[in-house]
Order: sequence, then structure tokens, then C-alpha cells
Amino acid sequence: MIGCFNIVKSFHGTPVIKGISIEIKNGMITSLVGKNGAGKSTLIGLIVDYYRRDSGDVKKGTVSVMPDADNMYSDWTGLEFLKFISKLKKTDVSYAINLSKELGLYKNLNSKISGYSFGMKKKLSFIQCAIGDFDAYIFDEPTSGVDVPSALKMLEVVRGLKNRGSAILLTSHNIDELERVSDYIIIDSGEIIDSGTVKDLINPDSTEKEVYIIHCLDSQKLFNDASIKFTKRIVDENHLEIDLSQSTLPNELLRLLVNSDNTVYEFYKKKRSLIETVYQSE
Ligand SMILES: Nc1ncnc2c1ncn2[C@@H]1O[C@H](COP(=O)(O)OP(=O)(O)O)[C@@H](O)[C@H]1O
Ligand SMILES: [Mg+2]
Repeated sequence: MIGCFNIVKSFHGTPVIKGISIEIKNGMITSLVGKNGAGKSTLIGLIVDYYRRDSGDVKKGTVSVMPDADNMYSDWTGLEFLKFISKLKKTDVSYAINLSKELGLYKNLNSKISGYSFGMKKKLSFIQCAIGDFDAYIFDEPTSGVDVPSALKMLEVVRGLKNRGSAILLTSHNIDELERVSDYIIIDSGEIIDSGTVKDLINPDSTEKEVYIIHCLDSQKLFNDASIKFTKRIVDENHLEIDLSQSTLPNELLRLLVNSDNTVYEFYKKKRSLIETVYQSE
């Protein structure tokens, strides 16, 4: 568990972290979401004592961190770096080597890190963080610039650490990815804007609206059809949105669609995505 209590930090008189209190629980993946410059990396730096806090407190056990910055020992080979880190973390280097195989980095381990691409450095930094036994693991933008199969593999490894009972803090620009992997999300902009489980954030009042989308040949024509007496909105020329919250079952609508001479391709319930939620709250 990591507890942050009213953390405050300014850089050169400009407030960046304006009093953040959060709890990163064991056996859970907690994600920080926010625009560039929101303060996510600064908050992580404050948690791991890379920066000094102006005020506030952090309670934590052992923490392993993958920083966003690229400051690895570039004159070393990947293998030399992983051997060094494994020794520091008192773990067998074979675990790091296995991870390098799974992430497609094994063939590069004997090359100097200075020649690595951005994505290859990310993979190496991910591996150094994921090895060893810690109470908490922090990954700052682990998958940015990483190929999709390796990014999925990274998330699988992160889930494994969570399932061992560790506390995980994660940031990512890929909100779809966070939506799939996070148990708890904090929307951060130097202060907490909103937080909750993915389900809570997407559907805050838990009274799900009965909004459906009709994908058809001509949404204007369907809209004009007098027999559609539902609350409706044209999304674009092929999509009509209808709110059935006030009606009974969509039977009447289905009958209409079947009898209509308009070509209907699809009819589905509209689901709010996390990305809409995050944009709306900023
Ligand atoms: N070492 C530093 N010195 C001065 N300003 C900094 C420093 N680190 C970050 N900042 C500023 O703090 C703000 C938050 O940055 P950062 O935490 O990196 O955001 P994020 O990770 O959410 O993109 C930015 O305005 C950035 O310019
Ligand atoms: Mg950052």
C-alpha cells in the first residue's frame, strides 16, 4: 500500500501538485490519467523521494519504479544493466532474461543501450522495474512507443504482480488500455478531479440511460418518420440516437424498424467510454 497525504509541490513558485491525497491499495492496479503536464510524473517523483515535497506525507513500504525519463547507463549493454539491477534487487538474472525474451529484447541484450531505440529502452526500463519482490510497483508510461504485442505482454506482467498482492500505480496515454487493466482510476490535474472504478466513472449515477444507436442508410429520413415518437438526435447521416428511457421495451421501435423501407444495418445500446468521461471532466 502507498498512502499520500495532502502532498504539495511547486517548481520555481508555480504550484504543480496542489494537495493530493490518494491510496494505492495492495492487489489493485490504480491508474493516473491526465493531460501532458498535469503532474503525474511529478507525483510519482514525490512518492519515490526523487523530489522533495513542500508539504504532506507519504507512507510506503518497498517500491520499485519505472520512471518516464530515459536516464539509463547508456555505455553498458542491456545484459550488463540487467545483471547489475538483478544483483541490486537480489533476484536471479534469469527472470530478467526471460522477460527480455517475452518482450522481444533478448537478441539486443549484448548491444550497448546507447544504440537502443526509444521502445527498446522502454522495454529494458520495464524489465528492471518488474523484477524483484516489492510491496509496490510504479510504471510511468510503460507502453508508450512500444509495439502492441509487447505492450500487451507488459500489461500481463503487471497483472501478475497485482495478483501476487502488490500495489500497482500506472500511467498511460492509452485510455482504452487503462480501461481494460485498471481496478481504480484517478483523474489528475495537479489535484484530483475525479476517481473511482472504471464502472463508477463511466456510469456515475448508476441509473443507466436507455440510449440506443441505429446505424442506417438515411438517418434524416428515419428521423422524419412521424411514427418515431421517441427522443431522438441525428448523430450523422447514417446514425440516429434514440432515448428509450421514457418508454417501455423497444418493441415498438423494433416493429417500426422492421417495417421501415430504410435500410437498417445495426441497432445497439450506446455505451459511454472512459475517454468521453475523462474529457468531460477536464
Ligand atoms: N524538474 C522540474 N522543474 C521544473 N518544472 C518541472 C519539473 N518537472 C516537471 N515540471 C513541470 O511540472 C508540470 C507537471 O509535469 P509532469 O509531472 O511531468 O506532468 P505529466 O507527467 O502529467 O505529463 C509541468 O508544467 C512541468 O513543466
Ligand atoms: Mg509524465
